[in-house]
Amino acid sequence: MAWKLRPAIDADGLAIGRIGREAFLAGGFGSFLFAPRSDDEPPTDPEEEIQWRRRRAIRRMKEGIPTLVVVDDEDTVVGFAQWERPATGDVPHHPPIASEGQKADDPPKSLNLDKMQHMFKVFDEEIGKVLGPEGHKDMWYLMLLAVDPAYQGRGVGKMLLRWGMDQAAAEGKKTFLLATVEGRPLYEKQGFKVLSEFDVYGKVNYTMLLGDL
Ligand SMILES: CC(C)(COP(=O)(O)OP(=O)(O)OC[C@H]1O[C@@H](n2cnc3c(N)ncnc32)[C@H](O)[C@@H]1OP(=O)(O)O)[C@@H](O)C(=O)NCCC(=O)NCCS
Repeated sequence: MAWKLRPAIDADGLAIGRIGREAFLAGGFGSFLFAPRSDDEPPTDPEEEIQWRRRRAIRRMKEGIPTLVVVDDEDTVVGFAQWERPATGDVPHHPPIASEGQKADDPPKSLNLDKMQHMFKVFDEEIGKVLGPEGHKDMWYLMLLAVDPAYQGRGVGKMLLRWGMDQAAAEGKKTFLLATVEGRPLYEKQGFKVLSEFDVYGKVNYTMLLGDL
């Protein structure tokens, strides 16, 4: 298959929402952010999560967050990434992820906002611990990377990762990300080093950097 990488458009939002849900369902945060709050509650409606992810992706695109998709020969989206570029005089740094979470993109009832806010707070604290108060302000930062489970292991994730690495290299910048257990091998193969390991709601995460501190 000849994959093609291109900038995302609003019409890709639904595919991005669906892939985000499906990729993060098992090992990722979707499994607890959208889980019923008690045994008495019915299972949550997958469509609510998909539409929420769609709204969030499009809102970020409108805010200028570089969003890339990989498509097949028929322009079907099989994976996507959202990157944050380093802050410059013209481009303000994106706010810390915790404050972004407060906007919450019209959260559906099934989204556990308290858990999401706590998760973002842990992320921000860990980033502060390993990178200092400036965080990843002067780095390329991978916000989100997900590949349709039906297309994993075929080079799609690598293409989306390398796009941001190439931007960083051209600008002489470092590349930083938070990795899941599932993502870590891909990043290590591309030269990223683990800075720290931490836990959110029982899930192991890593801060990872390409370049020296
Ligand atoms: C993690 C993820 C993005 C990887 O994307 P992918 O398209 O499946 O990965 P690729 O096929 O591009 O793999 C690239 C390389 O990493 C290796 N790799 C990827 N996942 C691996 C794994 N779990 N174990 C070992 N190696 C792995 C591949 O063998 C390949 O090696 P190569 O460069 O020698 O060919 C994808 O599996 C995914 O969306 N997972 C669920 C969501 C998630 O965890 N996202 C990451 C958040 S940090």
